[in-house]
Amino acid sequence: MQKTVCILGLGYIGLPTAALLAGNGYQVVGVDVNEQAVETINQGRIHIVEPDLDAYVRSAVAAGRLKAYTTPQPSGIYMICVPTPFHEGDGIPQPNVDYVLAATRSIAGFIKTGDMVILESTSPVGTTLQVSDVIRQAGVDVSRIHIAYCPERVLPGKIMTELVENDRVVGGLTPEATKAVSNFYRTFVRGDVLETDAKTAEMCKLTENSFRDVNIAFANELSLICAKEGINIWNLIQLANRHPRVNILQPGAGVGGHCIAVDPWFIVARDPENSRLIRTAREVNNFKTVWAIDRIKIAVADVSARTGRKPKVACLGLAFKPDIDDLRESPAVHIAESLLAQGYDVIAVEPNIETHPVFQLQTLEDAIATADVFALLVKHRQFSENIVKKSLAKLNALDFCGAMN
Ligand SMILES: NC(=O)c1ccc[n+]([C@@H]2O[C@H](COP(=O)([O-])OP(=O)(O)OC[C@H]3O[C@@H](n4cnc5c(N)ncnc54)[C@H](O)[C@@H]3O)[C@@H](O)[C@H]2O)c1
Repeated sequence: MQKTVCILGLGYIGLPTAALLAGNGYQVVGVDVNEQAVETINQGRIHIVEPDLDAYVRSAVAAGRLKAYTTPQPSGIYMICVPTPFHEGDGIPQPNVDYVLAATRSIAGFIKTGDMVILESTSPVGTTLQVSDVIRQAGVDVSRIHIAYCPERVLPGKIMTELVENDRVVGGLTPEATKAVSNFYRTFVRGDVLETDAKTAEMCKLTENSFRDVNIAFANELSLICAKEGINIWNLIQLANRHPRVNILQPGAGVGGHCIAVDPWFIVARDPENSRLIRTAREVNNFKTVWAIDRIKIAVADVSARTGRKPKVACLGLAFKPDIDDLRESPAVHIAESLLAQGYDVIAVEPNIETHPVFQLQTLEDAIATADVFALLVKHRQFSENIVKKSLAKLNALDFCGAMN
């Protein structure tokens, strides 16, 4: 088994994977185009928030098993963990695999017979084949290397545990690639490593996140209906879930992050005709954010009419989900920024980050002391504490995430 691994992209997926592999005896080269991230990692520190990751990185760097670079270095195994966003514009958002293709081009010159190239980035069906094409165009005989797709399913906040414990799906472009890459994962994964082909593995990841999106859309749609009826959605779901075969998810201020809010579009963009439910779910979840903005504006208008002054709105939480620092595609950020853009006096509280480019962050205590309208956007543990819940209840906080229930 090859013992050198080059990981392209040292973000939430690549860095934990790099540190874990280093701890499992691999010699790991981490590559990122972000110079600051590379510098931080080489000092044994981390540039993202993830429990336990700092200890793994510190010990991997100190042991000389993990070194970060801004350009790839020759290795036996290459893992691509770069972003896969979408191009926004009119119509259906289109997947953007430019980072994947750029990362592939950057390693193509190093690839030799017997090497493995593994795509971990969430990708539209067919991307692994595109990776192979890029490598072939660089003059490599792709029949002599192993190319496979292996999606990541980790939950931010539990990445170091889930990287090891989760079952993994490996789909190679050939049965030999599937076998070789699966055996590599079996050296550090305790969950089952399930073998399939590349297209099925690509679709499997998209299916998992679309399943979540569709189910959250159901909860979000219910929350709109219940708001109109004056029914407490949180109680309703609790009651309905006592049915032995019902398990409704929780509604929120929308759906964020760069997985669930993005990946379903990769299916819709490729086959719009057959993906009507998946598309509608995306639209319902996006609409929930618009609806939340409207509710906040109504509350502001109400306070303004009563007091005759311009009320301050406190947006509680900016992350895309509870207890993390990740703001990507966050509906909470969208809500806060859109209110600000419309001239509202907005303050933001986000206990998991220190600074924000747009908002001067406030502590929860300061927000409670100064704001007039409170929008609970993310169910951070700091907002769900009993004492906070009581103060926010007295202040008639708008609870879009169930923090007060
Ligand atoms: N974060 C998650 O929880 C999660 C879960 C499952 C799957 N994924 C998928 O994994 C992939 C990576 O996600 P992430 O959260 O780690 O992203 P991230 O933005 O945290 O990290 C990606 C890193 O790649 C770097 N990069 C970009 N182009 C590069 C290149 N050509 N060479 C080297 N580095 C490059 C960026 O600078 C960045 O640091 C995405 O496809 C994402 O959808 C993420």
